[in-house]
Amino acid sequence: SGPELERAAGLIRDVPDYPSPGILFRDITPLLADAEAFTVVTTELASLVGDADLVAGVEARGFLLGAAVAVVAGTGVVPVRKAGKLPRVAGSRTYDLEYGTATLELPADTLAPGARVFLVDDVLATGGTAAAAADLLAEVGATVVGFGALLELTALNGRARLGDVPVHALLTA
Ligand code: PRP
Ligand code: MG
Repeated sequence: SGPELERAAGLIRDVPDYPSPGILFRDITPLLADAEAFTVVTTELASLVGDADLVAGVEARGFLLGAAVAVVAGTGVVPVRKAGKLPRVAGSRTYDLEYGTATLELPADTLAPGARVFLVDDVLATGGTAAAAADLLAEVGATVVGFGALLELTALNGRARLGDVPVHALLTA
């Protein structure tokens, strides 16, 4: 809600049939490239961080939002990476995609036991990505205090896969 957020929503570009026929791709590039829109979504997500010690962003689009949110919230940031990019790994988690699987990894020696982490990504669709990231964080001993997405595709009910983790979305479609 709010005119600034509504304007930001208008900057998400819908691309039909990408990456495969029948899929409507939600491109946040124009929103990120707009100073006011990027600021408003960052500020809104940062207001959800609460007393978390760290913000975690999911590669790749969640990195852009997560890092900005961490600066505004006054926390550090942790990358939840796609597999094969980290020299040392604290844990990994494989999840299903429409075709095949993907694996997320967390860096070693970054999260103290009991660290309170707020997870950020751009879009909550099926919830597979966010659930894998949240499960992975929990597996290495962190407490996921919440998940914040810029856009939730409500028809897919991805939030059901986040279990007890409170789910926040700035925009819905
Ligand atoms: C997209 C999006 C979310 C995820 C949402 O990432 O950025 O991370 O899909 O889908 P889900 O809820 O069904 O898991 P994608 O893996 O396409 O790549 P990117 O962020 O690296 O561009
Ligand atoms: Mg992503």
